Amino acid sequence: MNVFEAIDSRRSIRDFTGEAISEQNLKTILKAGFQAPSAHNLEPREFIVVKDKKIIEEIVKFHKYAKMLPQAGYGIIVCGDTTKQDVLGFVISDCSASIQNMLLAAHGLDLGAVWCGVYPREHLIKGMTDVLNLPEHIVPVGMVVVGVKDGGPAAIDRYDESKIHYEGW
Ligand SMILES: Cc1cc2nc3c(=O)[nH]c(=O)nc-3n(C[C@H](O)[C@H](O)[C@H](O)COP(=O)(O)O)c2cc1C
Repeated sequence: MNVFEAIDSRRSIRDFTGEAISEQNLKTILKAGFQAPSAHNLEPREFIVVKDKKIIEEIVKFHKYAKMLPQAGYGIIVCGDTTKQDVLGFVISDCSASIQNMLLAAHGLDLGAVWCGVYPREHLIKGMTDVLNLPEHIVPVGMVVVGVKDGGPAAIDRYDESKIHYEGW
């Protein structure tokens, strides 16, 4: 799949077969996360892979919009290291770029994935921090839920000329 095809056809997948994905595919997705740009090239991101059913159940208890996680089987929590980048806005931007790269990588592998937001919801940040034993300088930004997809929505075209401005508003 070329990059334009991937960008155009990616959708959030919330139905999964529950089948395992290979270590190789998991690594490919993580590698895509590392390849994202970051402000000042500081790369303030860390990735926590969760597959353990008990940990997954703990996450689902506090994250009501991540109910697909147990069936997907895999969550990758993208966290920012505030000692590497002290501007929080950049930490969030950098982690978000990694998340989007991983969504596209999963799609390119014909897997399903959905971005589950964490930051800036206080209870989600606390939930992740407690369940994953995150140190104080690590902020959980978002979770990529990934697995073998069981169908999914069709591609949509969101291009909108009316939202494009030239040389100013
Ligand atoms: C910051 C952010 C947080 C999101 N959080 C969730 C979430 O918690 N659960 C979920 O099912 N989808 C979540 N999504 C996915 C959006 O609902 C989805 O991207 C949007 O509906 C557009 O659909 P598409 O991804 O299929 O194009 C999130 C997306 C973003 C960018």
